[in-house]
Formats: sequence, structure tokens, C-alpha cells
Amino acid sequence: MAEAKRYITSEELKTHNKSGDLWISIQGKVYDVSEWVNHHPGGELPLLNLAGQDATDAFVAYHTGTAWQFLDKFINGFYLKDYSVSQVSKDYRKLVYEFSKMGLFEKKGHGFFVSMSFMAVMFSLSVYGVVCCEDFWLHLLCAALMGFLWIQSGWIGHDSGHYQVMLTPKQICADSFRQLSSRHKHWVVEMEPQCSPHCLQ
Ligand code: HEM
Repeated sequence: MAEAKRYITSEELKTHNKSGDLWISIQGKVYDVSEWVNHHPGGELPLLNLAGQDATDAFVAYHTGTAWQFLDKFINGFYLKDYSVSQVSKDYRKLVYEFSKMGLFEKKGHGFFVSMSFMAVMFSLSVYGVVCCEDFWLHLLCAALMGFLWIQSGWIGHDSGHYQVMLTPKQICADSFRQLSSRHKHWVVEMEPQCSPHCLQ
């Protein structure tokens, strides 16, 4: 026989708001992430900031559809008795759902390969200019080109750190770029919701 659902109020949820006793709620279900907070790929700060609160919209905004499958590990059996969704959240989730359905968050095309080819051309031109010519100004131009190339590679590293280069985080190329670039994520707020349509239904 299925166990009866156990309920707590938002006020009770608020009391579990510190490290060591850290609960969050997503779509009315309560999750205990006290032990796991230090292993969260997005760092402990976002979880600490939302400790004891409903984190549904933040969760939708920051994660790919694949993150939903990890939630079950942290269910503690409680549900929010007074769970309600504000009009702003409803509108936001509807927008995410519609945009996801339209495929606007899918990685399409060959942007990554175009960028890499562009960088390879810039690299070749820059090396060629330095090795094969002696003109001072040309050398200076090649140095600037190399600098520009370095900046571009930084952007690709950044995007791969946010799983924006390959289709899944598991793909090896994205992983190696992530290693090269940002082991420690910065805390810029991105407003790109990453969610497959099913998770909002
Ligand atoms: C139990 C709840 C949570 C689980 C299981 C979870 C899981 C994950 C996973 C698996 C990732 C890797 C990226 C991905 O697959 O999308 C991730 C990244 C991240 N998470 Fe969470 N997360 C949780 C709660 C939250 C909350 C409440 C926030 C609040 C904003 C948050 C913010 C982030 C951020 C900022 C990243 C990095 C995203 C990026 O690199 O672009 N997470 N999380």
C-alpha cells in the first residue's frame, strides 16, 4: 500500500534554512539537500540562498532538462500543504513551456564548428605573418589577431562550462573544454531557462 503523503507548511519549511539542515521545495515537493549541497555542480551558494524556500522557478531557469532526474534522490517525503503558484510564476512557466516547445533552447546548427574554423584561420594567419614576414606593423597586427583569438577561445570555454556547446554534458569535447576553462563557476545570473517541455507539465 502506498504511504500517505506527509505535509508541512511554508513556515515550517523556512526553519530548514541553513547548512546542515537545508530543505528546498520544487513544485510543492520538499527536498532535503543538506548532505549534498557541497556536491551541487552549480556550487553551494544558489542552494544556500534559496534554503527553506520554494525554488521551482530558479530550478527551471538554471538547469537543463536532464537535471530533473536527480531530484528524486533528495525527496524527504514531505509536501507543501499551502503550495501555491503566483501569477508571475505561472506566466513565467508558461513562457518557458512555449519557448521549449518551439525548440528555442535547443542547440542547433554548427555555431561551435564555425567559431573553431574561424579561430583556426586566425591562428594560421597570425603564425604565417610572424614567421614569413618581417614588417614590424604586420607583426603587431598578428599579435592583435592572436589576442583576439585568445578572447574567442575564452568564450567557447565559457559556453562549454554552461553545457552550451554540445548537446549533453557527457559529451567528451564539452567536458575537456570545461576542464580548460572554468572549474569554478562564476555567479552571473543567466535568464535562459533550460528545460524540456515535459518538466513543466
Ligand atoms: C535538489 C535540487 C537541485 C539539483 C538536483 C540540481 C542539480 C544540478 C545539476 C545536475 C547541475 C548540472 C547542470 C545541469 O545538468 O543542468 C546543476 C547546475 C546548476 N545549478 Fe542546480 N540543482 C538543484 C538546485 C538548484 C537551485 C535551487 C539552484 C538555484 C538557482 C541551482 C542552480 C544551479 C546553477 C547556477 C548551476 C550551474 C548552471 C550552469 O553551469 O550553467 N540548482 N544543478
